[in-house]
Amino acid sequence: MTKETTPHHSSESIDLTAHLGRFTFSNCLMNASGVYCFDADELNELNQSKAGAIVTKSATVEKRTGNPEPRYATLTHGSINSMGLPNLGIDYYIDFVLMAQLDDQAKEKDSKFRFISVSGLSPSENIDILQKIQGTPYQDFVELNLSCPNVIGEPQMGYNFSATRRLLEQVFSFYTKPLGVKLPPYFDLVHFDQMATILNEFPLAYVNVINSIGNGLAIDTETETAVIKPKNGFGGIGGDYVKHTALANVKGFYDRLDPTIKVIGTGGVESGEDVFQHLLCGASMVQIGTSLHEEGPEIFERIERELHDIMASKNYKTIDDFRGKLKSLM
Ligand code: DHB
Repeated sequence: MTKETTPHHSSESIDLTAHLGRFTFSNCLMNASGVYCFDADELNELNQSKAGAIVTKSATVEKRTGNPEPRYATLTHGSINSMGLPNLGIDYYIDFVLMAQLDDQAKEKDSKFRFISVSGLSPSENIDILQKIQGTPYQDFVELNLSCPNVIGEPQMGYNFSATRRLLEQVFSFYTKPLGVKLPPYFDLVHFDQMATILNEFPLAYVNVINSIGNGLAIDTETETAVIKPKNGFGGIGGDYVKHTALANVKGFYDRLDPTIKVIGTGGVESGEDVFQHLLCGASMVQIGTSLHEEGPEIFERIERELHDIMASKNYKTIDDFRGKLKSLM
């Protein structure tokens, strides 16, 4: 009988710790906003998962029921959704995070970072929400969503460069807590240049790319019908379909942003290898949407293990050994 040999590092020598600026996380994995984060039940399940941090559903001032159903569908290689911003209102999410922090303190538990995603229906609604958060004891990250594609009649802010600059000018005239922005995908290198130039004018904690690829259309051939109801079937595409667009946006912004602005990578993550690729492109944290929806919060344990095993096979001890070090062909 041959004895099994361990081809690589012992587990203890691999450290999956991740950083976003001066903040430290047990690992780089998060949910993507919108998935598994609607209410306290879902958020508590994420809290108990292996995710390194969590983010709430994007909040508006008032609670919303969202678009008519069916408004989400699983596709062969991903998903389509036109949820229409169903959420419980910003007060609910602020209360949830503040209570969860008190609970951790009472139990002397290490707190997971809990991000609040904000997606006002207009620039002035975003300002109102951020003013409210500024006036609370909430100190964690806010993710300002500039890329919801599903509210009827509302364009994606991230595709309007001058409006994005105006909004950020207003935000940073009063807002002092850690703030990131979630952007839609860009497809033109000149757009990367233009948006990065704007973002670099502000003390952003991070830029999260990408939101879904907006306004795709999925069709059921047999019934000759669109698969979701809102907007005649138009909705945001996520999952494997968007991975290469996501990686290009992570790398594109990582190369263009001031190094104090970190990048969160989102899009097409269904394995540890996908996370590894996002990290190679420079992501500091990596969010999971469609496959979290498919698999549930146990996915974090699987993906953490797969990332660990890739690092072990390559003799990497920390994510900073390879993060941002994607090579080009000479
Ligand atoms: C919704 C979808 C998004 O992609 C987003 O960023 C915010 C909200 C939605 O339809 O609920």
